[in-house]
Amino acid sequence: MSIAPGNVVAAAAVGGQVGAAGAAHRYYRRFTPIERVMHAFLMLTFVGCALSGLPLIYAEQAWAQSLARLLGGFEGAGLIHRICAFVMIVVFVSHVVLVFSKAIRGGRVMAMLWGPDSMVPQPQDIVDIWRNFKWFVGRGPRPQFDRWTYWEKFDYWAVFWGMFIIGGSGLLLWFPVFFSRLLPGWMFNVASLVHGEEALLAVGFIFTFHFFNGHLRPEKFPMDTVIFTGRISEHELKEERQIELQRLIRDGKLAAKETTAPTEESKWFGWIVGGTALVLGVITVVLIVYSIF
Ligand code: HEM
Repeated sequence: MSIAPGNVVAAAAVGGQVGAAGAAHRYYRRFTPIERVMHAFLMLTFVGCALSGLPLIYAEQAWAQSLARLLGGFEGAGLIHRICAFVMIVVFVSHVVLVFSKAIRGGRVMAMLWGPDSMVPQPQDIVDIWRNFKWFVGRGPRPQFDRWTYWEKFDYWAVFWGMFIIGGSGLLLWFPVFFSRLLPGWMFNVASLVHGEEALLAVGFIFTFHFFNGHLRPEKFPMDTVIFTGRISEHELKEERQIELQRLIRDGKLAAKETTAPTEESKWFGWIVGGTALVLGVITVVLIVYSIF
């Protein structure tokens, strides 16, 4: 069910938590500092793995040879790849441990698995996909979302299961002597194939769909800095996440989420880091497409 923006302000005013005056200047916490730091590391290590891994797949291309030279030759690129891969695995394992320990300590295991704060896909996501596609073709109103949209969950799980495939196959390639004691030889051929193909899929997905969501949606263009500042404005909440806003007002939890406006430094940090990743990602996709054709 979508709610008109005016109704939210009215509901908030009734709840006594948000007044209409000055609403555009209010900000709410969306990501914790630790989540922002982890995302920054994930970005850095993903771009690092992509730039140092791709020269191996396209070794016959001039651009790949130049890129490898820039990274200290194929040996240097291999070292950078392993350092980035190690940090990425540490970030991933820490994320899983944090999510579970927070849920267990806070007695919120069910909330982690189901409900508006959960990343687990739910029936409402199917309804949202249907409504969003209807909106795309002009057959319905723009749907409103709760804390996580279906495409954010898709991005999350794409990275999550990708970590097992790309990380698992990568570890096999990294420590062949150790794993050869446990696994048959053909597994290494499979790992090599799977690692390269999954890397292309991940690069293709992150540097197109994920970047589209963060940069090219009309209301986000040229960049959504929320993952860097951790703050979402009330205006954005109203425009995109009215269901969440209404729920927070209803549960009396909105005031606790209110925070200060993002600092200029955090916005600049977002612009520089996000902009660099965007430029590198777009160049990578162009080079891959160029190499294929
Ligand atoms: C997360 C853990 C990862 C580990 C442990 C890992 C490990 C490795 C290793 C050991 C190699 C062989 C490199 C060499 O011999 O110098 C390799 C190759 C490669 N990696 Fe990774 N990697 C990981 C993640 C990634 C990611 C996230 C990407 C891309 C975004 C990626 C892309 C590649 C590519 C394209 C190759 C070349 C594959 C081929 O020759 O077909 N890797 N990786």
